[in-house]
Amino acid sequence: MDLELTEKTALVTGASRGIGRAIAASLAAENCQLLLCARGADALEQTAHELRQAHGVRVETVAIDITVPDAASRLVETARERFGGLHVLVGNAGGNSRGRFEDTTDEAWADIMDLNVYSHLRTARAAIPVMKASGGGSMVFVASIFGREAGGAGLSIYNTTKSALISAAKIMAVELGRDGIRVNTVAPGSIRFPGGSWDKRVKADPEAMKQFVSDNIPMGRFGRAEEVGDVVAFLASDRASWVSGACLTVDGVQSHSLI
Ligand SMILES: NC(=O)c1ccc[n+]([C@@H]2O[C@H](COP(=O)([O-])OP(=O)(O)OC[C@H]3O[C@@H](n4cnc5c(N)ncnc54)[C@H](OP(=O)(O)O)[C@@H]3O)[C@@H](O)[C@H]2O)c1
Repeated sequence: MDLELTEKTALVTGASRGIGRAIAASLAAENCQLLLCARGADALEQTAHELRQAHGVRVETVAIDITVPDAASRLVETARERFGGLHVLVGNAGGNSRGRFEDTTDEAWADIMDLNVYSHLRTARAAIPVMKASGGGSMVFVASIFGREAGGAGLSIYNTTKSALISAAKIMAVELGRDGIRVNTVAPGSIRFPGGSWDKRVKADPEAMKQFVSDNIPMGRFGRAEEVGDVVAFLASDRASWVSGACLTVDGVQSHSLI
């Protein structure tokens, strides 16, 4: 299926490694031109270089912390200046702060709310007028299965922020439908890639992680970042023209929610 992303411009946040990098690679494979961001300039530029080499598409980078209040407007303005517009926004950057709820601090809540929620809301708000001027667009935010259902002890902050992101995206989809802007979320399960959090846990305790997979993931393995990347590329594309306000699980049946 041709996703018809050729010459479209996508901004992907948190794109230097892991799921964000895989999303950028799936979009690049569809000839989409890219503006990538992450904090670490070297890894980001290395990723951009590899994607240019592999796919021959234009890839630009901005090394920036997306929790800085003016980062969203700077990113969207950069897309407009360098590419003349913006068709796709992928809000992928995110993080976790584990701990029992009674031990959590205001600072930890604020930090993860900022990264997992507010940064995406700011980027979306900045992108709306540019997408409208570009004739419409698609936003995809990377949530988690633990935004759709309870993730368990120690995940109060993460769970809350991912639920908030899914909720906000749904209302954005309602409000932006008539402007030709679709808004969706994806909810990955446990995704393993070299150097990622699950990879570290497997290396630290392979037997426990084997048991975890056996107990929790009916398809019998961790997900791959590329499997999230391809779903995001589809949602980003016009081939998903009647999909908006959705939250798609990408989890090998790991989650239990019926909705
Ligand atoms: N891995 C999983 O199993 C899994 C499951 C469900 C959902 N998710 C979600 O998927 C997304 C990506 O996860 P991942 O596992 O690929 O994460 P990761 O390996 O930690 O990569 C995160 C990416 O975001 C960048 N980043 C982090 N903080 C940033 C900031 N403040 N400003 C700009 N860029 C920032 C990182 O680069 P720098 O450090 O250089 O900034 C990196 O490129 C997250 O939203 C996560 O919650 C992951």
